[in-house]
Amino acid sequence: MKKIVCKDYEEMSAMAADVIAFQIKSKPDSVIGFATGSTPVGAYKRLVEMDLDFSRITSFNLDEYYPLERDNPQSYYRFMHDNLFGLVNIPDGNINIPDGECENPIAECEDYDKKLIKIGGTDLQILGIGNNGHIAFIEPNDDLPLATGVFELDDDTIAANSRFFENAGDVPKKALSMGLRGIFNSRHILLLISGKAKANAVKRLLDETVSTQAPASLLKLHPKVTVIMTEDTQ
Ligand code: F6R
Repeated sequence: MKKIVCKDYEEMSAMAADVIAFQIKSKPDSVIGFATGSTPVGAYKRLVEMDLDFSRITSFNLDEYYPLERDNPQSYYRFMHDNLFGLVNIPDGNINIPDGECENPIAECEDYDKKLIKIGGTDLQILGIGNNGHIAFIEPNDDLPLATGVFELDDDTIAANSRFFENAGDVPKKALSMGLRGIFNSRHILLLISGKAKANAVKRLLDETVSTQAPASLLKLHPKVTVIMTEDTQ
C-alpha cells in the first residue's frame, strides 16, 4: 500500500485527479470504478477542468441507495451526472450505476456483478472510507459479502449521510453495493481520505491487522493500493 499524506483537501484532490487522468491518458478505453460522497468531489471538479477524452471510458459506480429514484437530488445517479458524467464526453451507454428504482433488486445486483466479472474488473477503482471503516456499503460485520448485493446501512452510516438529507429519517436504510470481489478485482485501488472524522478508520487501515469489523483494513491484502489522505486524518 502506497500512502501519500497531503496538507489539505485541495492538495489531495489535485493528486487524485492526476492519478485518474494518468489512467485515462495511458489507457483511453479504461474501465473505472467511481465512488460518490463528499471526498472525491474536488478530484472530479479538477478532472472536468482537464478536458480529458472520456469517449472510450467505461464506468462502474460502487453503489446506489435503495430504494431511491434516479432524479432524487440525493441519488448517486444524480451525484455522478452533476459532478462528472454530465460534464465530460462519456457516452451514456458506457455508464453503469446500480439502479435504485429497480423492481427486482436481487436480479439487478446479480446482473451488475455479472457485468463486472465479464468486463474483467476495473483498471482503477476510486474509493472513499466511512467513519466506521466501511468501503462502498460493505459495513463492519463478522462476514463480509463478495458479490454485489442489497446491503443494510449501519446506524453510523445513516447518521453520517444524514447531512445530505433534510432529516435523518429520509436516508434510505439500504443500498445496492459492490461486494469485496468487485473492489478487489480492480488492478489499482485509489483510496481518498479527508477529515478528522476518519481518524479511527485510518488507524485500522494503517495498523498491522485486518478485520472484517474494519472493512477497509482488508485493502492491505490487495497488491496495488494508493491511499491519498489529508494530514488531519492521522
Ligand atoms: C460512496 C461510498 C461510500 C463513501 C464513504 C465516504 O460511493 O461507497 O463508501 O465513500 O461513505 O463518504 P464521504 O466521502 O462522504 O465521507
